[in-house]
Amino acid sequence: MTTLTTIPPLADDLEFLSIVSEWNTDATYHQWSAATLVPATFRPAQPARVFVVTNNKGGVGKTTTAVELAAAWAAMGLRVRLIDADPQNAAITYWLGVEYPEGLPFEQHYNLRHVFLGTPEDPRNPHGPTREVSLDQATYPTRFESLYVVPCTPDLTRVEYERTSSTDSALRHAIAESKEHFDVTVIDASRTMSLVTIACLIAADDAIIPVKPGALDAQGVLSINSTIEKIQRRENPKLRVAAILTTMWEKSDLAREVEEQAAEDYPDAIVSPIRKTTKVGEAPATHRPTRLHAPRATAVADYGQVARLLLDSVTPA
Ligand SMILES: Nc1ncnc2c1ncn2[C@@H]1O[C@H](COP(=O)(O)OP(=O)(O)OP(=O)(O)O)[C@@H](O)[C@H]1O
Ligand SMILES: [Mg+2]
Repeated sequence: MTTLTTIPPLADDLEFLSIVSEWNTDATYHQWSAATLVPATFRPAQPARVFVVTNNKGGVGKTTTAVELAAAWAAMGLRVRLIDADPQNAAITYWLGVEYPEGLPFEQHYNLRHVFLGTPEDPRNPHGPTREVSLDQATYPTRFESLYVVPCTPDLTRVEYERTSSTDSALRHAIAESKEHFDVTVIDASRTMSLVTIACLIAADDAIIPVKPGALDAQGVLSINSTIEKIQRRENPKLRVAAILTTMWEKSDLAREVEEQAAEDYPDAIVSPIRKTTKVGEAPATHRPTRLHAPRATAVADYGQVARLLLDSVTPA
């Protein structure tokens, strides 16, 4: 039997970023340094909250953000369900792995595709009638205490071809119908604006947008903006952008411009750097969150602080 690893709290002598309630735009580049912006209007989320990590740009740190925030919340004693909704990479499924109950027949190893499409009533007749699979049936423990994963496989893309009129709200309903209690749900959405990604945005309360600072972002054209606004107008008016995270952060004029633009575009959201740390790149191959692989890494401190701010009431200085 696999032993369960407890994710411990962070050391309190880590170098956390300072928390400010507004940017000091008068600071010279020399005076300016990384800080986490928590505007006075930001309201921390209450459990049970559903977060979607989203950006239609690839390689911006979505999966890393989903895993590290989930690990930080699990370390806070919260019960966390992490949903892998990226069929292209199935990165979370690879990174953390899932623990299927011993002896569970392979055809009962459910994943997110089954939650959308169900499973054949008769396994010998894969195209025959189907029965529903609940989100709880597709949720498995990991080797880490309080951290559960809904895995996915590349055939999640079948949802795009086998859609029904209720597919876009399928995940929202599955979460609402879940009987197991989770304090937080975190969804790692794909960069592709597929039907599954739209279903993730419809299911969520809060969006977290990781941004790897680029020139276009600095001009205020986060390409995810219009999709989020559309979803807010139509299917999910309660969706809010809770945080913009500038990932792989290194001090530069561009990083500063992107942060200032993000604060302007989303005046009620946390804007925080996640500092560039090579240890982050090593973590998936160790099958542990960076928080366990390199607990003193700057990115770990940054994710830890953002996790606390997103779900707790902390008054900014
Ligand atoms: N703070 C950081 N410091 C250094 N490297 C980072 C940091 N955050 C993410 N990375 C690295 O950047 C790469 C992309 O990250 P990640 O896979 O999380 O992005 P993604 O948005 O999920 O990508 P995709 O669109 O392919 O799903 C990875 O190699 C990851 O290790
Ligand atoms: Mg990813």
